Amino acid sequence: MNTRIETERFTLREFIQTDENGLFELDSNPAVHKYLGNKPVKKLEEVQEYILNLKNQYAENGIGRWAVIEKVSGDFVGWSGIKLITEPMNNHNNFYEIGYRLIEKYWGKGIATETTVALIDYAFENLKTEKVYAICNVENEGSKNVLLKSGFKIIEKFEHCEIEHFWFELHKDKWNNRIEAEKNE
Ligand SMILES: CC(C)(COP(=O)(O)OP(=O)(O)OC[C@H]1O[C@@H](n2cnc3c(N)ncnc32)[C@H](O)[C@@H]1OP(=O)(O)O)[C@@H](O)C(=O)NCCC(=O)NCCS
Repeated sequence: MNTRIETERFTLREFIQTDENGLFELDSNPAVHKYLGNKPVKKLEEVQEYILNLKNQYAENGIGRWAVIEKVSGDFVGWSGIKLITEPMNNHNNFYEIGYRLIEKYWGKGIATETTVALIDYAFENLKTEKVYAICNVENEGSKNVLLKSGFKIIEKFEHCEIEHFWFELHKDKWNNRIEAEKNE
């Protein structure tokens, strides 16, 4: 299918093997992994394997984590995407989860919010789902703020990988109301 999603400043596209160096810069940084279990990658092979895994997800589900490319520079900034979660999590199964991860030098520029809003739109327009979900470590203030700013609501806390996480949801009707309200502003 080769999905492409355009935002004002970025293109989200499927990962290709040549993204491996950018992905290694991202995932070998301990600061990036602070709220992700503190296991940054050590070898290029690990990210190569991750890209192969993503390609399987694109083929099976048409979606997955997509590379975020800055339009003006063509630079790899990180990833943002929608994953179909098929293992049970917090009593949910087979749901769409929105996530993102950016190279440290790109933090604090509104990038995660810009791509998340585009992904929510994509999910409701193209995946015919009524709800999208997200999770983050309760201490991850940055991620929490991205999700709240994008329209998600915290529903509850739950334990994931022995760490307390927030469970976020966003209903399609709430999203459509927000879009309508913005149009009328
Ligand atoms: C979390 C992360 C994606 C945030 O991306 P970002 O592009 O810097 O976020 P944005 O610029 O869109 O910020 C959205 C809001 O959150 C706030 N925010 C961002 N980082 C923050 C932080 N570390 N602490 C507190 N607030 C923060 C911003 O100020 C902004 O609010 P404002 O518009 O009122 O100023 C980025 O820091 C990252 O990739 N971290 C490592 C990986 C990770 O934790 N991924 C999420 C896993 S759940």
